[in-house]
Amino acid sequence: MRASQHGLRAFTVFVALSAAALYGTTFSVTAGAAEPQPPGVAHPQLWPATHSRGLVDAATEVRITSMLARMSVEEKVGQVIQTDIASIKPADLRRYPLGSILAGGGSGPNGNDRSPTAAWLQLARDYRAVALEARPGHEAIPPLFGIDAVHGHNNIVGTVLYPHNIGLGAAHDAELVRRIGAATAEEIAATGWDWAFAPTLAVPQDVRWGRSYEGFAQDPALVRAYASAAVEGLQGSPGAAATLQNGKVAATAKHFIGDGGTAGGVDQGDTRISEAELIRVHAQGYVGAIEAGVYTVMASYSSWQGQKMHGNHSLLTDVLKGRMGFEGLVVGDWNAQAQVPGCKADHCTAAFNAGVDMFMAPYEWQGLYANTLTDVRTGAISPARLDDAVRRILRVKFRLGLFDAARPYEGRMELLGSAAHRDLAREAVRKSLVLLKNSGALPIAAGARVMVSGPGSENLPMQCGGWSLTWQGSDTSNADYPGATSIKDAIKSAAEAGGGRLVDGSDLSGKDRPDVAVIVYGETPYAEMFGDVQLPLYNVGQPLEQLRQLKQAGIRTVSVLLSGRPLWAKPEIDLSDAFVAAWLPGTEGGGIADVLIGDRAGKPRFDFSGRLSFAWPNGTVPVAGRTGTGATWPMGYGLSYAAAAH
Ligand code: GLC
Repeated sequence: MRASQHGLRAFTVFVALSAAALYGTTFSVTAGAAEPQPPGVAHPQLWPATHSRGLVDAATEVRITSMLARMSVEEKVGQVIQTDIASIKPADLRRYPLGSILAGGGSGPNGNDRSPTAAWLQLARDYRAVALEARPGHEAIPPLFGIDAVHGHNNIVGTVLYPHNIGLGAAHDAELVRRIGAATAEEIAATGWDWAFAPTLAVPQDVRWGRSYEGFAQDPALVRAYASAAVEGLQGSPGAAATLQNGKVAATAKHFIGDGGTAGGVDQGDTRISEAELIRVHAQGYVGAIEAGVYTVMASYSSWQGQKMHGNHSLLTDVLKGRMGFEGLVVGDWNAQAQVPGCKADHCTAAFNAGVDMFMAPYEWQGLYANTLTDVRTGAISPARLDDAVRRILRVKFRLGLFDAARPYEGRMELLGSAAHRDLAREAVRKSLVLLKNSGALPIAAGARVMVSGPGSENLPMQCGGWSLTWQGSDTSNADYPGATSIKDAIKSAAEAGGGRLVDGSDLSGKDRPDVAVIVYGETPYAEMFGDVQLPLYNVGQPLEQLRQLKQAGIRTVSVLLSGRPLWAKPEIDLSDAFVAAWLPGTEGGGIADVLIGDRAGKPRFDFSGRLSFAWPNGTVPVAGRTGTGATWPMGYGLSYAAAAH
């Protein structure tokens, strides 16, 4: 092709894509003509060109090649299927040599999601023992054990739960995120598991979405920085350091792609934006994760321009594996293959051929195994495609150190809920708080009489949110969080340390009259689609009457909002002397008292440093991730004691 033709092609591409960007449609680009093309087809040349770091080395690839040559087709098909601990017993692995086992939200050993920690370790060891048995014709390949450790090792009773991602985003501290990833990886490795389905790299555009709190920010650049930090924290630096033997686990960049951009914030919905917008907003985290050497990517339930992501070859293969050079494995989401047109839970040729390397098949996995085996035998799935998927899976297993019998972190249960990890979480809580209003009520002098009230004041499930011991978190109680600290207990300790005390608010005029009242309220726990809401973005209306009474009694009030998203709370904000967005802080309520309660002289012990990583909506308009679009306060907003002092 001569230079002039190159020029014409480039110009045509530019014109077509400018129009596409303007109107959000996509055009196929052929020489000289631009005609509409089927929706949901990506153009790899428009996407960031990058590649995985630290996943491929010649020696390992040679080992994989020889292992592939020894493996039967049944063993290869087994590798591409993952099922849940509730669906398979260790002995089943003899007939079905599956590549991975997961513990989905709320799925615990022997059906008990409040199992003792040792049960988690024993379960992993039981499955692994069968997989590694020496049997004639059997290739001993250790399974990957995947779990949603999304704010600490959150399935385990007694461990530390960190602030959910929305709070970490407000901290604007990538190094903190790296440290949390490293601490979480150690805890996972101690229990014998080796794959965290984290970090979520969603860029939530409409906070009606029930998974908004799993996103770090509405700013793609912040998500990209956090993606690298979270992956390196969980996995270690790309290359030799990224192994189980170093207390590291596989990370998961999820959910590829556009999960946070669906119309109306509907979970698993349709992201109806142009390709340019998909790249600008939703792809940046994956660049960060891939360049940090992320081992796995999870495909999204959602669609782009009406096409289910799990069936989108142009994005899963041409863009992610081709243009963006991802060399790890793509895992499907929970039974998501069943949503691909023409597919069922137990049979989905299209998703595998589109680029899903491993099905997450919690049910009907035996049927999926049999049907996928048939697809390979009939040629519906080519040997090359199967080998590519198995190579990627084995590559992750080799690089992660699964084939190395040494598990130095296994059994080190003292790491779970350790003082060091609790201190780290407490620091994260402090840094996550955003001060939205303060007309003098904060900081509270340590010697004050403090009233602490509200539905969230002694409510660890509200502090922790979803993905906490159970899937939804709403079916847990304070007793499920040994070692945790409620906000009320934390404030009590801090006040009493300064000679102050708690009062119960029953006396608003006598010797027990509060100097200040801290009222804690907000959202009750939820996860995924159960957190989707409609407009108006308002459901915190519990304490209005209490705030009014306190105001009439002339008592200063501090509202602390526990929520998985910014909420329109103008009535409460107007009635409060101070208003703090605390998001979903997790088990370490002490971090809140550290900032709210000053010293005896009333000077701050810690200042607010959090800044909104989501714009704060004005109620009726969900924020489209841009400042000024229906925002009361923009991303980046947040007050501090220091600023007020000037
Ligand atoms: C869920 C979520 C995904 C999670 C997976 C396993 O449906 O979409 O984020 O990792 O299933 O629990």
